[in-house]
Amino acid sequence: MAGTLTLFDLLSLLDAEHRQLDDLAVEAAALFSESSCHFSGEISAPCRKKISSLIGRTLTTCIAHFMHEHEAMHLIFAPRDYIDGHADEHDALLSQMRALVEDMGNNGATSYDLLQAIETFNIAMHRHRNTTDAELYRYLHISQSSQGY
Ligand SMILES: [Fe+2]
Ligand SMILES: [Fe+2]
Repeated sequence: MAGTLTLFDLLSLLDAEHRQLDDLAVEAAALFSESSCHFSGEISAPCRKKISSLIGRTLTTCIAHFMHEHEAMHLIFAPRDYIDGHADEHDALLSQMRALVEDMGNNGATSYDLLQAIETFNIAMHRHRNTTDAELYRYLHISQSSQGY
């Protein structure tokens, strides 16, 4: 499928992925008040399962989403320095997610530690979307109107 998507397809895909990431951030915030996720002491098995599933789905969504943004940047021939800068931010976000996967395997981590780390990731992602992604969207919409969609 990669390489066969039009700009129109990619824009709808990127919008859908951003909505998925919003839903995952809401899910993460809700876990703070989840009864199985108490803040101190050893993390409970039900909470571990929920956080692990959330981290797994967030990582999978990010990997697919970043790949689609890269595809869109190349499709519209975005400036090389912009592509490189955007890719560096994606790499930093992925490293943050991978560190979370490692923290998940660390028995000393409490649910509070993990939820705080997820919250820190979501704040970084939000910042990325309001700045670097917003610039990409301006490029994509300009290209889309010039292509007569
Ligand atoms: Fe991005
Ligand atoms: Fe994005």
